[in-house]
Amino acid sequence: MNEMEQSIKRLREILDRANYDYYVLSAPTMSDWEFDERMKILQSLEEKHPEYADPNSPTRRVGSDLTKEFEQVAHIYPMLSLGNTYSAEEVRDFYDRVSRALNEPFTLVAELKYDGTSISLIYERGKLARAITRGDGTRGDDVTANVRTIRSIPLKLRGNSFPEMFEIRGEVLLPWAEFDRINREREEQEEALFANPRNAVSGTLKQLNPQIVASRRPDAYFYSLLGEDLPSEEHYRNLEAAREWGFKVPDVIRKCSSPEDVLDYINYWDVHRHELPVATDGIVLKVNSLRQQRNLGFTAKSPRWAIAYKFQAEQAETRLNSVSFQVGRTGAVTPVANLEPVLLAGTTVKRASLHNADIIRKLDLHYGDLVQVEKGGEIIPKIVGVNTEARSFMQGDEVRFVHACPECNTPLVRPEGEAAHYCPNETGCPPQIKGRIEHFVTRRAMNINIGPETVEDLYNAGLIRNAADLYTLRIQGLLTLERQGEKSARNLLESLRKSREVPFDRVLYALGIRFVGETVARKLASVFGSMERLMGADYDALIGVDEIGERIARSVLDYFADGKNRETVRRLSEEGLQMSMPEDMLAGQSDTLKGLTIVISGTFAKHSRDEYKAMIERNGGKNSGSVSAKTDYILAGENMGPAKLEKAAKLGVKIIDEEQFLRMIE
Ligand code: IVH
Repeated sequence: MNEMEQSIKRLREILDRANYDYYVLSAPTMSDWEFDERMKILQSLEEKHPEYADPNSPTRRVGSDLTKEFEQVAHIYPMLSLGNTYSAEEVRDFYDRVSRALNEPFTLVAELKYDGTSISLIYERGKLARAITRGDGTRGDDVTANVRTIRSIPLKLRGNSFPEMFEIRGEVLLPWAEFDRINREREEQEEALFANPRNAVSGTLKQLNPQIVASRRPDAYFYSLLGEDLPSEEHYRNLEAAREWGFKVPDVIRKCSSPEDVLDYINYWDVHRHELPVATDGIVLKVNSLRQQRNLGFTAKSPRWAIAYKFQAEQAETRLNSVSFQVGRTGAVTPVANLEPVLLAGTTVKRASLHNADIIRKLDLHYGDLVQVEKGGEIIPKIVGVNTEARSFMQGDEVRFVHACPECNTPLVRPEGEAAHYCPNETGCPPQIKGRIEHFVTRRAMNINIGPETVEDLYNAGLIRNAADLYTLRIQGLLTLERQGEKSARNLLESLRKSREVPFDRVLYALGIRFVGETVARKLASVFGSMERLMGADYDALIGVDEIGERIARSVLDYFADGKNRETVRRLSEEGLQMSMPEDMLAGQSDTLKGLTIVISGTFAKHSRDEYKAMIERNGGKNSGSVSAKTDYILAGENMGPAKLEKAAKLGVKIIDEEQFLRMIE
């Protein structure tokens, strides 16, 4: 091994170790900065020396290209489910059943039941070879590219005591903190929220773009080892070995030798599970000896040597007092149940979301009903049922969804295929107007010193009807408001003045265009460079931008098609708000590639693929992932895929190399 190869190998080892300390042991040993610097060095060395490439290098954790579709793969051992129990009695029954069937002493291993999505990993010679979802139990989707981005999953194992080939199963999980972060982002982008981390994570594993998977930062915990020559005949020991090879095996697993031991474990975790960073929905009991497991065997659906005990979802019964219909910034009308306050899982619940008209109808909800409220893995408590027996002869009226906007009386609309009702009176409905202004002034948008109460007061005083009106406010007008002191009025005016320096991408975000959250706004701002160019962009130009889909493109077009919005933007521009990116950030921007669709293929010497992608966009071109009749050029590096080459030849698409491309945009 020469010196270069040595250094690359050494860097990989250091970074692997740092990843392991951080993600598996949760005990970081390297600063983020140091980690990033080393990663950059490794990346550049690997780029310069493709001869030492390794698919298991830590640089490959962030997938780059789109996986077209998932391949279906057969499981070596079927992925079965577990029988469920819900009471101490059923747990004792399981214990007795096993005891009778074995007729010899045995030990159970108690584990937590993690509430995510199951995954099966195959390792060959210590390297991750394949990751498959549960699928239908017999066949699953090959999601290796996505799973490789999960930092706590070892791509290469530690030590050398592992079998040549084995399978390990576990649960991919989205920690609560990540779940909350993602939902906050989705809320901002007005995307539907994930109800719980389980839904979020199963959606994540099915993402076609591994970069999205990486950005959601899932974790993985492991709970069973399968294969021909495992280190031990004991399940518990095998898990310990797996932990040594680098897998995240929770250290809460316990050996139990009586039903009492098991019940102690259950009772402890029923309370303390709320302190864990991930969601759990029960515990799993497994016979420890693999020989005894084989003796007990399986029923058609599940093993006889294991069982799940499910924690009770926390429920309470309370009275439905009334239902409010709230109108949001986008006009969506949400029904909210107002409840007689009740204690549930440690907090007092007064309100619960009723989601939409269909759900209200399904519940057959009446005013005054006794309802069951549940707080499962969900963030907002929900009403799961009605105690119809408790309805007295004085039964209240049926809860009906309103037909008209509770705020402005405009008849509501329900777009086809959607569950939500909307108030279409965008420019005349007070909560929509106030909501848009409140969004405009938030810290991450224009950062204007004004709270919702002042927006409310200014609106009621007739001083503001849209964001541009804010800039017409003067001290005299402000001081006519009841709740407004002189000092805060001056603060407000000062922050308005300062907001003229807020960069263009945040101005764009502040407009509150549907689906244009911070990230999208930043992308659009850097690609189009100015409001003028963005307003002039057509559907194809928008959709040609990386990460901008049909929905966002339509929303941007709709926004600027509305004369009132264009007028607001014009006034904001006159007020001196930033309507373009600073010159230095626009350097290298041009229209040279306008109207051209370019596919990138292979590996390059001068710039990375992402850099080429950005160059195409900066110069007005469209980057596409697959070759079609619409493709104008293929920017080809080394090792261009044979399928693409063949298709290009068939369609007569011109192939250019990086030199030619760089000359084109010079
Ligand atoms: S053992 C033969 N152990 O629960 C079944 N499963 O119905 C082997 N799960 O989808 C499964 N935590 O993804 C086992 N500690 C644990 C688990 C666990 C969560 C999930 C698993 C499966 C479901 C079982």
